[in-house]
Amino acid sequence: MVGVNRVFNIDQMRQLAQSKLPKFIFDYLNGGADDEWVLQNNRAVFAKYGLLTEVLKDVSEINTSTTLLGMKTDLPIILSSTGASRFFHPEGEVAVARAAAEENVLYGIASSAMSSIEEVASVAPGPRFFQVYVFKDPGLNSEFVQRTKAAGYQAMYLTVDTVVAGNRERDLRNQLSIPPKITPRTVWQVGKRPKWAMDYITTQAWGFPNVESALDETTKKDFGSIAEWFASQLDRSFTWDDAAHLIAEWNGPFVIKGITRPEDAIRAAEAGATGIVVSNHGGRQLDRLPSSIELLPGIVDAVGDRLEVFVDSGFRRGTDIIPALALGAKAVAIGRPYLYSLAAGGQVGVSRVVQLLKAEIEHDMAMMGITSIDQINRGCLFERNRK
Ligand SMILES: Cc1cc2nc3c(=O)[nH]c(=O)nc-3n(C[C@H](O)[C@H](O)[C@H](O)COP(=O)(O)O)c2cc1C
Repeated sequence: MVGVNRVFNIDQMRQLAQSKLPKFIFDYLNGGADDEWVLQNNRAVFAKYGLLTEVLKDVSEINTSTTLLGMKTDLPIILSSTGASRFFHPEGEVAVARAAAEENVLYGIASSAMSSIEEVASVAPGPRFFQVYVFKDPGLNSEFVQRTKAAGYQAMYLTVDTVVAGNRERDLRNQLSIPPKITPRTVWQVGKRPKWAMDYITTQAWGFPNVESALDETTKKDFGSIAEWFASQLDRSFTWDDAAHLIAEWNGPFVIKGITRPEDAIRAAEAGATGIVVSNHGGRQLDRLPSSIELLPGIVDAVGDRLEVFVDSGFRRGTDIIPALALGAKAVAIGRPYLYSLAAGGQVGVSRVVQLLKAEIEHDMAMMGITSIDQINRGCLFERNRK
């Protein structure tokens, strides 16, 4: 079987991940909501964006570094917060954090991570943030603020597009739960992936250490269906006023993730946020949202320099990332690409995917006659069918 060093792009990394994970785990990673319309559109949309070259310029030195939320990073790429990373590799978030620190890219640890805030901070010194969902337990959000501050996290994210869990029918069909239900189907799927099975049996049991204080003893042992557990915990009454309080309590770089309208981007600035992520959650939430890159220019124009605008959902190539930077994104976040790589090769896999994207961006910039990230602007773009 090919190792991650013989993988040259993210699609190949996805195939390698699929060959290593039981089907019900790969479906959780790869799937989207409802008919997966957004998931497909997230890739199809890039056909609209062409890039232009500017020739006979000195491109002997290319610099891809940038500053995000006050942190200097080697690339305008963020490893987005994703829960439950130990599904994909026994070292989970710890392996991702180590790779992110090594490659000097920003990484977000999710409140639904399977490694604790403190453990991740102790293994990797890199640029990082902590992402919160809005849980009903009022003490939990304050606890997150205290713990992440004490552990030295540089920024906090609030994900706002998950007021209810997305309708992911693959997970419903697979009866995805923690621990996995023992059915003839799961036993068959796990049996075909003996390495994954051995890791599952021989390493620490899965859990969600960051929300442990909110769980009763029964839930700690059996989370039932993940969707049900989350649905029961999310606070649907949280509003902009509550967000403003959380931002004030954090009192540092704060990003609101899951914005799709210019009006909400302006509200985020008014509430005191430092940044936003234009996102459709990788097609895992509302299955009729437009692609993030199409929404980006309107939002960038509405907020100007008041916010750092990030974008995610569907980015797989340097040639996807550069159009977003040209349209005013400060950085592009990725989710599945680094999770495929985690499944494919642990920490080495995650490093590999960052290095591949860096190499692609450097090549693309050279061909476009660009030597630094701040030179990427709307003039580099050719938008097909633009009215
Ligand atoms: C398996 C998985 C788990 C995720 N968990 C979270 C999460 O806990 N919090 C969050 O804000 N976003 C979560 N996301 C969304 C990602 O942060 C990101 O918005 C999305 O993956 C970007 O799209 P992409 O996967 O096409 O790159 C998750 C995504 C995946 C694939």
